[in-house]
Amino acid sequence: MTKWLVGTGLSSGIGQALVTQLGSGWRSIGLSRYPQQGSSSQAWLRADLANPSDPWALALPKMLREWGITHVAGVVHLAGLVFSDQMEMTTQDEWQRTMAVDLTAAFRLLQILRPWLVRSSSVVLVSSVDAWMQARDGPAVAYGAAKAGLIGLGRQLAAEWGAEGIRVNVVAPGALVTGMGPQSEAASTIVDRTALRRLGTPEEIAQAMAFLLGTESSFVTGTVLRVDGGLNLDY
Ligand SMILES: NC(=O)c1ccc[n+]([C@@H]2O[C@H](COP(=O)([O-])OP(=O)(O)OC[C@H]3O[C@@H](n4cnc5c(N)ncnc54)[C@H](OP(=O)(O)O)[C@@H]3O)[C@@H](O)[C@H]2O)c1
Repeated sequence: MTKWLVGTGLSSGIGQALVTQLGSGWRSIGLSRYPQQGSSSQAWLRADLANPSDPWALALPKMLREWGITHVAGVVHLAGLVFSDQMEMTTQDEWQRTMAVDLTAAFRLLQILRPWLVRSSSVVLVSSVDAWMQARDGPAVAYGAAKAGLIGLGRQLAAEWGAEGIRVNVVAPGALVTGMGPQSEAASTIVDRTALRRLGTPEEIAQAMAFLLGTESSFVTGTVLRVDGGLNLDY
């Protein structure tokens, strides 16, 4: 039976690798600012998560109902926005946009999808090592706060929804070779701080997410899986 995945950030980087990794048996609905041509296994919904008045929150449940989708097997939140700024330089606008995309969108998405989540549905929120350390090429105060918020959100929901068999986990990647990874001049410093002495790939994060979405992890909930090559050991 087809399993539906609904996710943000599926258009590139880790999200694109995840859809490939899951393969047949899954169909996805991706929320994106730039929806692409849909296919038999992948549909897109236009959504600018930084804009609080974007109508995606109304369009998504309408779409699910119109398509006759009665339950969603997997939800992932991968959309991310980062401003590498220290406290004094972070503007109110940067703070609000980061919170909207990285954290509030996850809250809204899960609140909307709650009626579609059933026993064995699995949620994976993508945080970052930045939730507990300064891991980038500079400070990222709003990003770190939002990514730490995702851990709190995920663990609260794991406790709240566990009795109904709905699992919620968080993945915390280290530095990767993707769009949101470190810029080239910072990469070598981060590699030096990473135990495995290299950057990760989107596929390596996707594999961890696929594990958490699948039945192989049926007794795993409320956890934060660090997939960072040991970068957190530098803390
Ligand atoms: N790369 C790393 O080194 C690293 C490390 C730790 C954690 N992470 C986290 O991993 C996640 C995925 O990052 P990635 O490395 O795969 O980078 P990526 O390819 O740049 O993906 C970022 C995604 O965020 C979505 N997004 C950004 N602003 C949005 C908005 N206003 N509305 C809707 N979607 C928006 C983009 O979707 P559209 O362009 O389709 O709108 C894009 O798919 C992020 O949450 C990031 O914080 C990455």
